[in-house]
Amino acid sequence: MKENNEVIKMKNVLVVGGGGREHAIIMKLAESKHVDKLYCTPGNAGISKYAECFNVSATDIDGVVALAKEIKPDMVVVAPDDPLVMGMVDALQAEGFMTFGPKANAAIIEGSKVFSKELMKKYNIPTAFYEVFTESEKAIAYLKKQNSYPAVIKADGLALGKGVIIAQNEEEAVQAVHEMIDNLKFGKSSARIVIEEFLTGPEVSVLSFTDGKTIVPMISSMDHKRALDGDKGLNTGGMGTLSPNPYYTEEVAKECMEKIFIPTMNAMNDEGRTFEGCLYFGLMLTPKGAKVIEYNCRFGDPETQVVLPMLDADLYEIFEAVYNHELDKVDIKWHDGSCACVVMASGGYPESYPKGIEMNGFDEKGQVEGCFVYHAGTKLSEDGKFLTNGGRVIGVTAKGETLQKALDNAYGGVSKIHFDNAHYRKDIGQRALKALD
Ligand code: AMP
Ligand code: GLY
Repeated sequence: MKENNEVIKMKNVLVVGGGGREHAIIMKLAESKHVDKLYCTPGNAGISKYAECFNVSATDIDGVVALAKEIKPDMVVVAPDDPLVMGMVDALQAEGFMTFGPKANAAIIEGSKVFSKELMKKYNIPTAFYEVFTESEKAIAYLKKQNSYPAVIKADGLALGKGVIIAQNEEEAVQAVHEMIDNLKFGKSSARIVIEEFLTGPEVSVLSFTDGKTIVPMISSMDHKRALDGDKGLNTGGMGTLSPNPYYTEEVAKECMEKIFIPTMNAMNDEGRTFEGCLYFGLMLTPKGAKVIEYNCRFGDPETQVVLPMLDADLYEIFEAVYNHELDKVDIKWHDGSCACVVMASGGYPESYPKGIEMNGFDEKGQVEGCFVYHAGTKLSEDGKFLTNGGRVIGVTAKGETLQKALDNAYGGVSKIHFDNAHYRKDIGQRALKALD
């Protein structure tokens, strides 16, 4: 620090993960007045233009701890669910590193649906009615007795976002139960299942910063989970997002703060599992009020891609405040206008798809003018070309004074980028625009 208290960029940060969410976190940290050098592991082609990348996998706890000891960052941000649930933050803190992300005993809020459902029941947090099963005969007998479809069947543990089946009839429900419990479709994650009531209403994602004492909801967002236009096709990790979500009015926000956000933070404290990090609320605005569909113990992907560009504050300062339990001292503001993200995926996603296809239209940093292009599944060829390397390839993101302008800007970016068999939804934001009418 200089004598006149002028801040000089001197902090080095390691981000663990390698998708669009991590790219968005890195580009926001790059704006911080504190951050000097950014590292990422494993990163991707787009991230490598902003951060030095390493070959250590995001789930390799010993490897990440060893890497941190070598490069000595001032802070390590653990972004994906698996390493958080596996205890990477605990392992890093044990070596004295400042971290952002919950410890394993709090990450269980995403790691076990049974845990989260029991938490909500115990603390009266609104959610769908449910039962837990470990034996398929009992689960099937329950389904037959309820005889109510669609039925929602969820694997207890992490399942790459694919552990939720909405069964339209008894046949589909029985098949899902057998696949999960008897055939362990998601390994031990589906040895236990939750069967819950089917809820209806618009969905809203609300990410929040919390240090266990204060909870600050971020600007709301809307995901588009299905692969095809008109919300058809298979469920994916998310084909596009926008922010803010027009269904999330001030009145709904107040209700959620009082009945869901603060009670959840307090419940985790009461359980001796203080949550420090980004707590994600997947909400459904049902005719009977807002209910929790799911908790995530991390930034959502691709929600982060439309939330962080709207943040009018220093992300490094927020992360540091969460670690020091001083979140109440930070002024967190949001930009006016809207932000939209259109995911360009490989043809065939979310089923099988090719990798290694050359991409065109980028500048040397993997960007296009007027947009933030957050890379998810990309790599560089030996001669420096951008190649596809995953199902969701990039999230083309743009801001605008209105949602329509943000969407026009994002789709304008999409039209400049080409790779064979690229697949993207043409209707991101259409439902939200209708809600604004
Ligand atoms: P999740 O992986 O828990 O986010 O669930 C995936 C999607 O399934 C959610 O975004 C909802 O669209 C849907 N879903 C989950 N639980 C329910 C429910 N109880 N009622 C209706 N839809 C649900
Ligand atoms: N986009 C939903 C999630 O991150 O789980």
